[in-house]
Amino acid sequence: MNLVTIFGGSGFLGRYLVRQLASKGYFIRVITRHPNEALFLRVYGKVGQIQLFRGDIKEEQKLGDYIRESDCVINCVATFFETRSQSFNNLHVNAARNLAREAKKQGVNQFIHISSLGASSKSSSLLLKSKGAGEEAVLDCFTDANIIRPSLIFGNEDTFFNRFAKLSSISPFIPVIGSSTKFQPVYVDDVAKAVTLLVESDQRKRYIELGGDEIYTFKELIDMLLSEIKRKRIILKIPFLPARIIAATNDFFRLVLGDIVPAFLTLAQVKSLENDNVVELKTEKFSDLGIVPKKLKIILPNIVNRFKRG
Ligand SMILES: NC(=O)c1ccc[n+]([C@@H]2O[C@H](COP(=O)([O-])OP(=O)(O)OC[C@H]3O[C@@H](n4cnc5c(N)ncnc54)[C@H](OP(=O)(O)O)[C@@H]3O)[C@@H](O)[C@H]2O)c1
Repeated sequence: MNLVTIFGGSGFLGRYLVRQLASKGYFIRVITRHPNEALFLRVYGKVGQIQLFRGDIKEEQKLGDYIRESDCVINCVATFFETRSQSFNNLHVNAARNLAREAKKQGVNQFIHISSLGASSKSSSLLLKSKGAGEEAVLDCFTDANIIRPSLIFGNEDTFFNRFAKLSSISPFIPVIGSSTKFQPVYVDDVAKAVTLLVESDQRKRYIELGGDEIYTFKELIDMLLSEIKRKRIILKIPFLPARIIAATNDFFRLVLGDIVPAFLTLAQVKSLENDNVVELKTEKFSDLGIVPKKLKIILPNIVNRFKRG
């Protein structure tokens, strides 16, 4: 297997994946809407090993060109909030289905779809509902696709720890919605390693949930962060009902005024915080791939070092 095409290869997870696959000698094609912002990926490989193409996964008619001659296609595309041009449904379900269908049509050997822990077409969160429906749509078209479901991913460019660390450097309060919701944070390079292993060993039909080896509540994660950056802040536990009201208000203004209103809190996010985000016992996990996940405690100091007091 030689050519791997990655949609979303410039994103947080995608870049680690590009680096690991390049180190194993694969030729990589990254489809991105902003190739000029993804030039940094090129240095992960030898000259010509990593190619960047301008493209949008929503362009159904062009998907065939984007994946031509690929041995493996990986879909890392997602959005955490909807915009006028990108709804959960058209990105996570329709575009994922079109890509899987086109990959099957072109005889692509392997398809890897990155989903999320908690994804379910029955979820009350529109985000997780669309991710669940996306998995089903992919498997309808590419029955032996691999589905990867990570928990909260941490790493240098993550949004979770970086955002809360940034907030704690400017605010005395840290609002936390779902303070007792459990997470099993997973290191970005470990997720990339798992996907790379599937590519190398030409695996199919694997359905794997990826969580780190420790489970933390949301509040414990914030406590850990604050202790790491040596800042004392007041943690404001916001119950779900007021959080839903604030989020619905934000969603309403975005619906009326459009994307000029920032999506600081959406109903889909609040609802996705209402359930624990931990690996289920019955599914395949890191141990089935022979990978020992790295501990958050070891990696966190590097992620938030620049926010450390003193
Ligand atoms: N981060 C987490 O904690 C986490 C947890 C669980 C699961 N996941 C899953 O892991 C996957 C990767 O997440 P991430 O954190 O790496 O996300 P990310 O950093 O937001 O990256 C998303 C990527 O999607 C691309 N993209 C968005 N819209 C596109 C479109 N219309 N056409 C083509 N590309 C498009 C973006 O590239 P351009 O903007 O350059 O086009 C970007 O590279 C997603 O499936 C996500 O649901 C992430």
